[in-house]
Amino acid sequence: MSSTTRPSSGSPSSGGPTSDESRPRKLEQSNPDYDPNIVVEAQNLTKIYRDFWGRQKVRALRSLDLEIRKGEVFGLLGPNGSGKSTTIKLLLGLLFPSSGRALMFGKDATEVRKNERIGYLPEESYLYRFLTAEETLDFYGRLFDMPAKLRKERAAELIEKVGLTWAKRRQLREYSKGMVRRIGLAQALINDPDLILLDEPTSGLDPLGTREMKDMILELKAQGKTILMCSHLLADVQDVCDRIAILYQGELKELGRVDDLLKVGEETQVRFKGIPESAHAEIRQVIQKHGGEVLSLENPRTNLEDLFLSIVRESQQRPGHRSEGARKSG
Ligand SMILES: Nc1ncnc2c1ncn2[C@@H]1O[C@H](COP(=O)(O)OP(=O)(O)OP(=O)(O)O)[C@@H](O)[C@H]1O
Ligand SMILES: [Mg+2]
Repeated sequence: MSSTTRPSSGSPSSGGPTSDESRPRKLEQSNPDYDPNIVVEAQNLTKIYRDFWGRQKVRALRSLDLEIRKGEVFGLLGPNGSGKSTTIKLLLGLLFPSSGRALMFGKDATEVRKNERIGYLPEESYLYRFLTAEETLDFYGRLFDMPAKLRKERAAELIEKVGLTWAKRRQLREYSKGMVRRIGLAQALINDPDLILLDEPTSGLDPLGTREMKDMILELKAQGKTILMCSHLLADVQDVCDRIAILYQGELKELGRVDDLLKVGEETQVRFKGIPESAHAEIRQVIQKHGGEVLSLENPRTNLEDLFLSIVRESQQRPGHRSEGARKSG
């Protein structure tokens, strides 16, 4: 989590985020209308950036209404400049709305104590370049007042999880873009948060890293965590998100379940194997007899991601092996 979203570390009442189960409940109990199934709520949320003289500059977000439920992976989509990062910053209380409200766990986004339950991976790296991975996680663990033993255990566990054990004693200034992204995720999870906000989590990652990041997101969901991620990499969103919102120039254009939005209702897809090609004509006839139209009858293709991953995995298992196509050209 970035230093801007840390809890007030000076607060004597704040114990370790994972050690004191009662704190989050206390936070919830203070709001009688709080529905624990609604983790994030935007009500008519609007942000207008103004220039130094207070003149209106950019209307980055217009009257956004949104609810994110406990345990779901929610994707915020939109082209560059559509207001995704602005929305995340408003929800975190890093920006003040021009109008409307942002609520997290039923509390106003500006409430500092909610941060104990939130992990945040920002769009840009903000980590200290001269710290190692271990020192970085230890630093953020201290901000959450975690005891030394727990910090050490949690850091080792997270470094392993994000695949950086081999580089844990190297300073972050020597890290590649993808490695920085990985340690950023580890940092966002240091306080074992209930809600994780990921701004472009797969940016800078190679396809293997992207797959691992998506698997980690699904693993967090399986643990009951709520995740809000924003991205313009549509395949990533499609693979992991339960629901999505599409923003365009700060306006909500679409909201719904990924499955429902992508379903092509009037078409049916059939896949089979073990039938000779000679039978295809018969299959076409049956479809036409029932008034249907054959749109495609062909071998399915794998996608490039699966192909790439199978090649990388094969290369790891059989060093020196090359595909037939690569042998011909080499
Ligand atoms: N600090 C700022 N001051 C003025 N305008 C800003 C500021 N931050 C963002 N904007 C503007 O607000 C709009 C939304 O920006 P935002 O960063 O939220 O978009 P985004 O959807 O995250 O884009 P990207 O995909 O490029 O990350 C853009 O027009 C941007 O120029
Ligand atoms: Mg952004």
